[in-house]
Amino acid sequence: MALYSEKVMDHFRNPRNVGVIEDADGVGEVGNAKCGDIMKIYLKIENDVIVDVKFETFGCGSAIASSSMATELIKGKPVSEALALTNKAVVEALDGLPAHKLHCSVLAEEAIKSALKDYYDKNGIEYDRSQFPDCESCGHCGEE
Ligand code: FES
Repeated sequence: MALYSEKVMDHFRNPRNVGVIEDADGVGEVGNAKCGDIMKIYLKIENDVIVDVKFETFGCGSAIASSSMATELIKGKPVSEALALTNKAVVEALDGLPAHKLHCSVLAEEAIKSALKDYYDKNGIEYDRSQFPDCESCGHCGEE
């Protein structure tokens, strides 16, 4: 069996929603200390709906495919759905990732959460802080 699914290859070769939103309502940037990859997500939000999303990823192919798929999954969706997006859902939508590449999809989940947190903070919207674990308590950086 091929190491990467056709969906991963497709999103890696033709990533959707690459770029920057200049007047974004929320921006999130996360990195993985171990591999050094960085992902940045820009959100445009109107009436509690993600009307546009763009990403910049400086990282491996799986990180690019994960960001591309994650942006597709949240585009046009309510903020609450974007907040509930898990890396598992991203992996499933990509028809799987090799075990040592699962952390790349975690980066996509975290970048979206970080952008949503930025949106909440900028707009003074109350939120449940437990939905955004701080760096120390997450432990993803050390994951393979
Ligand atoms: Fe670290 Fe892909 S190898 S994000």
